[in-house]
Amino acid sequence: MSTGLPTAFDHRLARFPFPFPREKYRYSANVEPAQTLVGTAAGEWGDRLIEIDADYLHELSARRSILAADPSRIALLDHMRPAAWDALLTVLEALSTEYPEHMALSRSGTTCRWVNTLLNEDLEFAVGDDSSIPGGPLRFLSSQVQEDIVLLDQREDALWLDGGVVTFAADWSMGFDVGMRFLEVHGPVPRIHEEQIITRAQQFLMRLQAGQNYRRTNWTMTIDRRLDTSTETYPAWGHDRTRIAEDPALHERLHLRVEVQHLVRLPRSGALMFLVRTYLASLEELATIPAWRQRLGNVLAELPQDMADYKGISKYREAAARWLLEA
Ligand code: HEM
Repeated sequence: MSTGLPTAFDHRLARFPFPFPREKYRYSANVEPAQTLVGTAAGEWGDRLIEIDADYLHELSARRSILAADPSRIALLDHMRPAAWDALLTVLEALSTEYPEHMALSRSGTTCRWVNTLLNEDLEFAVGDDSSIPGGPLRFLSSQVQEDIVLLDQREDALWLDGGVVTFAADWSMGFDVGMRFLEVHGPVPRIHEEQIITRAQQFLMRLQAGQNYRRTNWTMTIDRRLDTSTETYPAWGHDRTRIAEDPALHERLHLRVEVQHLVRLPRSGALMFLVRTYLASLEELATIPAWRQRLGNVLAELPQDMADYKGISKYREAAARWLLEA
């Protein structure tokens, strides 16, 4: 089904946030100001907080099915209700600014009107009244954007993952992580604790002021165009990892998975909003851009073993690097 968006949106690689500035990849506190355009070998990305593309309807429909099958993908601790409303208003305001031809938010007192022509929606709700909006503010927000949404509370000199809607997790579990501290959430990640990356990132995030939006990228690999690789569905996708290296269709099935993660201090509640937008491009697609083919091949070949193990790519990264560098 057409989204009614300009056809330029259909060109996946033109907006792909290729994440490797160097021939080697290491973890770092790679945060930079949001809404800053970045040129790439295939086009450009990064001028918007919220990115809508040709997969909009498909991804929103996938999220609806996932939430219907598994309600643990959405969680909101009681004290985060004001943050959920704040997130809703902040994102709907951003959408009406960034997509004025399709979306509009208007407000009179506590009553808001929201129009989204891509979804044929036109509705009114009362800010703070959960029953006035379908599914409540957080679930409704997740029905309007492709981004996964995480809400963090700041207290006791730490950040706490106290709410969110995450249907497209890269091998983690929202239901398991809810209520954890930022440092605990990152417990399984190698290197970043010894290297002080994660404590420094937390200090940086705790100092963020409203209106100062930042972002970072993260990456891994996924077999097929599967967005839902959360821990809960591991039995459905985990075994593909052991077979893909020998699959003659490796280059079509294996995708670089890039997350653009936004970090936003919500202006009304003071909570922190973490948005995760996931992009997939197959080796075959990426190989059409020679600079990307070479760079991804070099990064995969060089990646230290502990990082490859954590990302779950050890069994096939050499085969992928070979295809990219030798084919
Ligand atoms: C503020 C909100 C953030 C949240 C809610 C968050 C959440 C997560 C989660 C759930 C994981 C997966 C952990 C697992 O395997 O169980 C992860 C991985 C990771 N996070 Fe964060 N993160 C945030 C911000 C950051 C920041 C600012 C950094 C910057 C240093 C960072 C660095 C990393 C790294 C390096 C990984 C490993 C990724 C990989 O190799 O695939 N995170 N994060």
